[in-house]
Amino acid sequence: MNKPSDLPSRRDFTRSTLFAGAALASGALRSLGANGAERSGRRIRTGIIGCGSVSNAYLPVLTRSPFVEVVSLCDIRPERARRQGERFRIAHTYPDIEAMLAGEPFEFLVDLTDMQAHEKINRRALEAGKHVWSEKPIANSLAAGQGVLRLAQRKGVRLWGAPITVESPQFAFMAKALAEAKLGRVAAAHADYGHEGPTWSAFFYEKLGGSMPDLGVYNLTTLTGLLGPAKSVAAMVAIVTPERTVEDKGRIQVTEEDNAMILMNHGGGVISHVQSGFNYFNPHGHDGAGERRHTISIVGSGGYMGLAARASPERDRMDRRASFVRG
Ligand SMILES: NC(=O)c1ccc[n+]([C@@H]2O[C@H](COP(=O)([O-])OP(=O)(O)OC[C@H]3O[C@@H](n4cnc5c(N)ncnc54)[C@H](O)[C@@H]3O)[C@@H](O)[C@H]2O)c1
Repeated sequence: MNKPSDLPSRRDFTRSTLFAGAALASGALRSLGANGAERSGRRIRTGIIGCGSVSNAYLPVLTRSPFVEVVSLCDIRPERARRQGERFRIAHTYPDIEAMLAGEPFEFLVDLTDMQAHEKINRRALEAGKHVWSEKPIANSLAAGQGVLRLAQRKGVRLWGAPITVESPQFAFMAKALAEAKLGRVAAAHADYGHEGPTWSAFFYEKLGGSMPDLGVYNLTTLTGLLGPAKSVAAMVAIVTPERTVEDKGRIQVTEEDNAMILMNHGGGVISHVQSGFNYFNPHGHDGAGERRHTISIVGSGGYMGLAARASPERDRMDRRASFVRG
């Protein structure tokens, strides 16, 4: 087994994979020529739409980035855009995308709205010639997602969708171990992600919401990235809690799954299992800080590999570490 000092001790996993900072600072911004932009002192003029919970993870990173100038904010609840505007010193705020597009010029849209709003907003921005980074999903069906991608290609602009777990150093570590056949012949993988469910917004529980597009998607991305695209999929979904109380709408009916199990056949005999849910007791909270169980595990004929988070005593923050154990 690797000694802890041999393992990749990396940046806060939440910031590098679940949230935007690293993605925007690496993949998306690199593709937009951000390194050149930094050299020339030009920052990418960026507009952010959706000023709710996750904007609190994006805005501190983007407003400090040398690659980005956040020029405008937008939210259909205009007070949210104004509040974040005051907090992060962003002068231009708008109540809808049309006003935003007609207002302060920008080239790159970061879409942090409800899951159900993404397709329409992403399409509108791409049509207007903006590059788009979208929180997951980029649209609510495969066909709609492919349509959004085709539109970006036709317009000659870039489109990225969260999650970006495949950009994380942990993913690189695991991919390398697999490529070097350190686990022998890979047979199976398991991944899980869950908590007690978001308390702030109803859309997570409404049509086209659910634990799978909100949480399961991270592990679906990681495992298809590591083991190859799914050749076939079987799933079972259920609703455990049919009614909830959320901050924006009060008492609501839950109409999308809050409990999902997905099996994927990756070919070559490799089968994986992803589970997600909004009814998982999780003392480690939404970002899983301090979680010690392996939330991703992969097993082969010659070894076992797992991904776990631990609190780093030196920095009082969370690291995620991937390690492998030989059989
Ligand atoms: N909250 C998190 O920790 C987190 C983490 C990772 C990813 N995400 C993803 O980020 C997205 C947003 O989640 P959230 O938790 O921030 O939700 P939220 O409800 O807190 O915020 C969404 C915001 O978008 C605004 N909005 C909705 N439709 C709009 C429209 N048409 N035009 C302009 N503004 C609009 C809402 O008024 C709201 O302020 C979702 O796709 C979610 O899956 C959230």
